[in-house]
Formats: sequence, C-alpha cells, structure tokens
Amino acid sequence: MSPYHVEVLFTEPQLAARVDSLAAEIVAGLPEDGARELLLVPLLKGAMVFAADLMRALSRHGVTVVLDVMQVSSYGGGQTSSGHVVLKRDLGLNPAGRPVLLIDDIADTGRTLDFVQRHLAERGAGPVTTAVLLDKPSRREVEVRVDHVGFEIPDRFVVGYGVDYAERHRELPFVGVVVEDRE
Ligand code: IMP
Ligand code: MG
Repeated sequence: MSPYHVEVLFTEPQLAARVDSLAAEIVAGLPEDGARELLLVPLLKGAMVFAADLMRALSRHGVTVVLDVMQVSSYGGGQTSSGHVVLKRDLGLNPAGRPVLLIDDIADTGRTLDFVQRHLAERGAGPVTTAVLLDKPSRREVEVRVDHVGFEIPDRFVVGYGVDYAERHRELPFVGVVVEDRE
C-alpha cells in the first residue's frame, strides 16, 4: 500500500443532516395504512455506523425498528472488488412477510445489493426497500434497485463513517477520499 492521505468529502454535520432527511424520505415512502415497523438489515461491517445513526433518526420520525444484521464479502482487502459475493452471516430473525430496510454503505458495482436482495426474496421477506449512504452510479455493473441514496459520488475510493480501506479508517466521523501521496 503506497502512502496516502484522506481528504474530507462530507463533514460530520453534513452526514448528520442527510441521515435525518433520508429517514424522513424513508418514512414518507411507507404505506399510509401499514404498520410503521421496519426490520432493519445493515450489512456488516461497512454499514454499521450509518445504520446506527439511521435507526435513531427513523425512531425520531416515528418508526418502530427491529434490528438484525447480515454479512457478505466481495472485497479482497484492497480497493477493488473480487466481483464474487459470498454470504458470511445470514439473518438470525425470520424476515418472512416483514417489511425490510436493507442498509449498505456504498452501492458500487451493485453486485452486493443484488445478491442480498435476491437472498431476502428467497427467504420470503416482505417488501424490501434499499438505502445506501453513498452511490457511485458510474461504477454500476448490475442493474439493481436502490430506493434511497444519501449522496451520489464520482468513482473515487472513500473511507470513514464505517467505510474501510483494508479494515482501517472506519472510526473517522467524516467521509473522506483516499488520495495517494506523490513521491
Ligand atoms: P458492490 O458489490 O460492488 O456494489 O460493492 C459494494 C461494497 O463494496 C460496499 O458495501 C463497500 O463495502 C465496498 N466499497 C465500494 N466502494 C468502496 C469505497 O470507495 N471504499 C470502501 N469500500 C467500498
Ligand atoms: Mg460493504
């Protein structure tokens, strides 16, 4: 890994404001007459920090939240995906018939969300809505439905707010771009 630094892309207040408005959008999309309850399914580990804030924002907006997690992997540790998605941890709760909010950090090629959406459908989940903090539309290889996007970003490698580079930088309170240092 050559030397690099991280440049701020979205500050902590920008993230907080967007997570709150995203929660309002998600609530507005719920059926009028339905129960205001969602089974939240963040994908470990990248969506953890986003999901922790989003679940509290949803609660402030009147949604009853039930939490479970899934873990899949596609990244080999560097900046590029292996393109092959593997299920590492399935849901503990039964999603059959329940409205699910699938949460991930970044929609990139779309393979992860496509894989998990199919998996949730196979397990009989109720309507599945998908929310991501960041979307890189220019990178899409698989057509996949993403209902709620925090921010669209260009094809840059980012870290922070749960997102890692080789398991580092998840703890940063902001989202930043990885910039290689010049020699
Ligand atoms: P996809 O399956 O190609 O859409 O990849 C989605 C996953 O790749 C995300 O959940 C992230 O874990 C990872 N990923 C994509 N772009 C980045 C990035 O810029 N930084 C860190 N991880 C990323
Ligand atoms: Mg991920």
